[in-house]
Amino acid sequence: MHDAVVNESAPRVAGLFAGIGGLELGLRRGMGAHAAMLCEWWEPAQAVLQDRFPGVPLHDDVQTLQSLPDVEVVTAGFPCTDLSQAGRTAGIEGAASGMVRHLFELLADSGPTWVVIENVRNMLALDGGRAMEYLVSEFERLQFRWAYRLVDSRFTGVPQRRQRVIMLASRTHDPRSVLFSDDVAEPSGERYRDDAHGFYWTEGRRGLGWAKDALPTLKGGSGLGIPSPPALWVRDAEPGRAIVTPSLTDAEDLQGFPRGWTEAAQGFGRSGSARWKLVGNAVTVGVAEWLGRRLGLPPGTWDDGGSLILPRGTRWPAAAWGDKNERWEYPASMWPEVQPYRHLLDVVDQSTMTPLSLRATSGFYGRLQASSLRYDENFALAVKQHAEFMEGNVA
Ligand SMILES: C[S@@+](CC[C@H](N)C(=O)[O-])C[C@H]1O[C@@H](n2cnc3c(N)ncnc32)[C@H](O)[C@@H]1O
Repeated sequence: MHDAVVNESAPRVAGLFAGIGGLELGLRRGMGAHAAMLCEWWEPAQAVLQDRFPGVPLHDDVQTLQSLPDVEVVTAGFPCTDLSQAGRTAGIEGAASGMVRHLFELLADSGPTWVVIENVRNMLALDGGRAMEYLVSEFERLQFRWAYRLVDSRFTGVPQRRQRVIMLASRTHDPRSVLFSDDVAEPSGERYRDDAHGFYWTEGRRGLGWAKDALPTLKGGSGLGIPSPPALWVRDAEPGRAIVTPSLTDAEDLQGFPRGWTEAAQGFGRSGSARWKLVGNAVTVGVAEWLGRRLGLPPGTWDDGGSLILPRGTRWPAAAWGDKNERWEYPASMWPEVQPYRHLLDVVDQSTMTPLSLRATSGFYGRLQASSLRYDENFALAVKQHAEFMEGNVA
């Protein structure tokens, strides 16, 4: 499906900081929206957008964008580089994350029905919540009602634990009727299988990112741009195949994209490093699809009595809403719905996964042994045996 074939009555979206279009693809799936304009300045991302959204006007730098087209939805998954734990944590005034101020300059003179922002969980806590304070204050100043909610990508059925803040704002509609009207409790752990676990092989001192039947969050890569996807422990694998890393197309699938979505960026960076960064930075497509479906439905209901007043300067909770007068905490879970779960070993292609190298495995094993972390002894044994196998193969 391409946006070049446009249904004139379909809702229109302007995608700022569009990346590889996770939000725009999800909104297309969820509400039939088509992209009227995309803005993205990084060449590999531009290549993917031109390939996947052919014919859609693509502007490069948000700083030179003079105005927004007449659209129903404006999306802005602005850079998380300065906000994420994996990033530089300079905060909302950082050179990258600070780009979001251009969104608000553009909104001052335009009237989209909805604005969608997505960013990392750390945005709630970093620097005493300054980034959230900035976003909320800007929406208040521009007379928008706003709501946000932390969600876990696993609710969409993908085996990736990824917690992200979805913020929705409108001058004319109530974002609570979209963001809070679906809620189910976190499903019981019984739905996860025991045959594969994800972890960060780059860690092992203070944490593991341990995830049963899932990978921990795929990230955009280190500051050096070296792809370091999380690893999996496959419990019953043959020697040398028990500690492995997923392929790039597995990663696309784990983010809800069709496999090969970022092929147009293959020529950028060493060994597909640009593609890894693009995929790690993207919004899980199913999250945007749920949002789109909700935006396309009549307003839903939420628990009107469930909110608690949120005094200024307090910690930002997992979900909240407000307008220019008030701010409220809302008891929403990270699970708006529960789509059928795709087990980790049913998603990744075991034949194309890469055994973790001897160096990486030994380094991780050493850190694990020296740490005071609690872990499954069988896991530690599998790591040790993998290191021995790899050593035998090197010798
Ligand atoms: C977190 S990513 C967005 C991911 C996107 N929502 C997706 O699903 O792929 C932020 C994007 O903003 C882009 N960006 C940063 N500064 C920009 C600027 N001044 N103009 C346009 N794009 C910019 C980055 O290149 C990056 O692709």
